[in-house]
Amino acid sequence: RVAGPCVLVLFGVTGDLARKKLLPAIYDLANRGLLPPGFSLVGFARRDWEDQDFARLAHDAVKEHARTPFREEVWKQLSEGIFFCPGEFTDDGAFDALAMMLKEIDETRGTGGNYGFYLSVPPKFFPVVIEQLKRTNLADGPPGSWRRVVIEKPFGHDLKSARELNAVTSAVFPESSVFRIDHYLGKETVQNILALRFANNLFEPIWNRGYVDHVQITMAEDIGIGGRAGYYDGIGAARDVIQNHLLQLLALVGMEDPTSFDADALRREKEKVLKAVRLPQDLTLGTARGRYASGWQGGEPVVGYTDETGIPPGSTTETYAAVKLEIANRRWAGVPFYLRTGKRLSRRVTEVAVVFQRAPHLPFSKDETEILGQNALVIRVQPDEGITVRFGSKVPGTAMEVRDVSMDFAYGESFMESSPEAYERLLLDVLIGDPPLFPHQREVELSWKILDPIEEFWASQGPPEEYPSGTWGPASADEMMARDGRAWRRL
Ligand code: BG6
Repeated sequence: RVAGPCVLVLFGVTGDLARKKLLPAIYDLANRGLLPPGFSLVGFARRDWEDQDFARLAHDAVKEHARTPFREEVWKQLSEGIFFCPGEFTDDGAFDALAMMLKEIDETRGTGGNYGFYLSVPPKFFPVVIEQLKRTNLADGPPGSWRRVVIEKPFGHDLKSARELNAVTSAVFPESSVFRIDHYLGKETVQNILALRFANNLFEPIWNRGYVDHVQITMAEDIGIGGRAGYYDGIGAARDVIQNHLLQLLALVGMEDPTSFDADALRREKEKVLKAVRLPQDLTLGTARGRYASGWQGGEPVVGYTDETGIPPGSTTETYAAVKLEIANRRWAGVPFYLRTGKRLSRRVTEVAVVFQRAPHLPFSKDETEILGQNALVIRVQPDEGITVRFGSKVPGTAMEVRDVSMDFAYGESFMESSPEAYERLLLDVLIGDPPLFPHQREVELSWKILDPIEEFWASQGPPEEYPSGTWGPASADEMMARDGRAWRRL
């Protein structure tokens, strides 16, 4: 899978995402030989820059953040195709210049009129950029060429705004040319959920209410909001992470097998399961939210959320969210899916744990099995990528004592190949035009339908419960599990 001739136009080149993820990913693709020789990258931003200024920014970003080793000859070839177009989004002249520049690039570098437009900008700028692309005829290529637009979350902040945002893009680009990034779907370990479930016969027979007690999906971060107060406040953990990454994980774990891995088949199955998601009847009991207070992280004191720079007084934004969901279908009826995410927790870890029911009968005495937990299959999404199966085993010795042990698959031990960074995989898919790993607008809307009532309920409550930084979140999240006779996995 190698991309054909094309230009990638990046709006928002001075942002964090471009520097930390997008520019390094483009270099990594080039380094792996997955970009065509004439591949060109155009940066567009409100800076008084020449091509070489943008190339320098890209160079530094690559040196600092690329996954693959820096090779001068790869960089040289890539940098010959780096261009910069200065301007404001509202400036017609700047977009006319962009159109001219792209035409010239086609002529000199053989990129064939194939353009991808990556909007790494806050959604409030989507309408003006998309309108400009339309006005300059950049949204529609000549026959035989392609035009694609890539958008980053947040896709709105509720169902209504998500629909409005979509109306803007769909008025100009057909759905098949819109690539919505949920970078979790670009992660190797997330794609492997499909391989684990549907390339094997071992797990699927027990992947249902007959055997599964519950599922826990955790995305824990140790970092705070950093310099992102402007984005994060008013958004919060649930909109930032549950609406997209965690509900996508739930969909992959809960869906039926797609007939193929093509985008339609895959998305249809994900949609079905998202449609079947049910909220707890009592949101006080079935959700929890929190906000980090000061505390300790990695041996250093850290400030609480409300003391972070840029957080307005009276903020009620949560930095931790947990919710209990059910899936109303034959496979999952009665099996809770517990989702949790938070910032400034004890450590960074994302995992999906499928926890199985206890054995219906134990022919051992209580003493012998005292420390026996439940069987679990844990998909370790990051950082220690792999899969663990927990089960009881006889402790060596003269007594029949049973204790939990782990059977482990670790990427590093089984594969020589290194995993591409999520953005590398997704950017390549955009350039190739391969959509399965990009959520459809219908999935975005279904996810907001799940989240909206929860957000509405939380908005009617006071500020979130505080938890000290460096701990596992608010007490109410533990109480939510305890009421069901369960506990969060200790990570
Ligand atoms: C982003 C969120 O989508 O994912 C961030 O906006 C979060 O708040 C990030 O930190 C985490 O991504 P990853 O790949 O490091 O788990």
